[in-house]
Amino acid sequence: MTTLDLNGRTVSVRSPDDTPLLWVIRDEFGLTGTKFGCGIGMCGACTIHVEGRATRSCITAVGAVAGAKITTIEGLDPKGRHPLQTAWIDLQVPQCGYCQSGQIMQAASLLKDYPNPTDDDINAVMAGNLCRCMTYVRIRSAIKLAASRIRGGSRA
Ligand code: FES
Ligand code: FES
Repeated sequence: MTTLDLNGRTVSVRSPDDTPLLWVIRDEFGLTGTKFGCGIGMCGACTIHVEGRATRSCITAVGAVAGAKITTIEGLDPKGRHPLQTAWIDLQVPQCGYCQSGQIMQAASLLKDYPNPTDDDINAVMAGNLCRCMTYVRIRSAIKLAASRIRGGSRA
């Protein structure tokens, strides 16, 4: 039986090893913040973190991440107050919202590599996260706002 560290909790997985991590997260553990978009790694809606790095959960077999530290949008911050989340709220980024948990998880990974990201950094790293509502301009602004608050030592 596969075990995972899911948002800081050790869990045992009943699903077969070849089950996409996305379905384990959503169906077995009820964490529905992570979304299904394309199922082939092309849209980013299903982005979570494996060992702190952005990963497409729709194309990751659960058996391939046995024992790994998995973080979903529900576990990004214990109070849902990660600087990205508060920046997203302050700038009213979402429209329909469907893509946004994947956007935030990708952005959280980005900020580890680029604490002061340029437009080009953001465009390059976020290119695989699609938004059918075209919220890209607000996403970029919110990433910069969160980055500035983190650099300034503010969490909100
Ligand atoms: S649902 Fe995983 S990348 Fe689209
Ligand atoms: S906010 Fe609707 S798909 Fe991005």
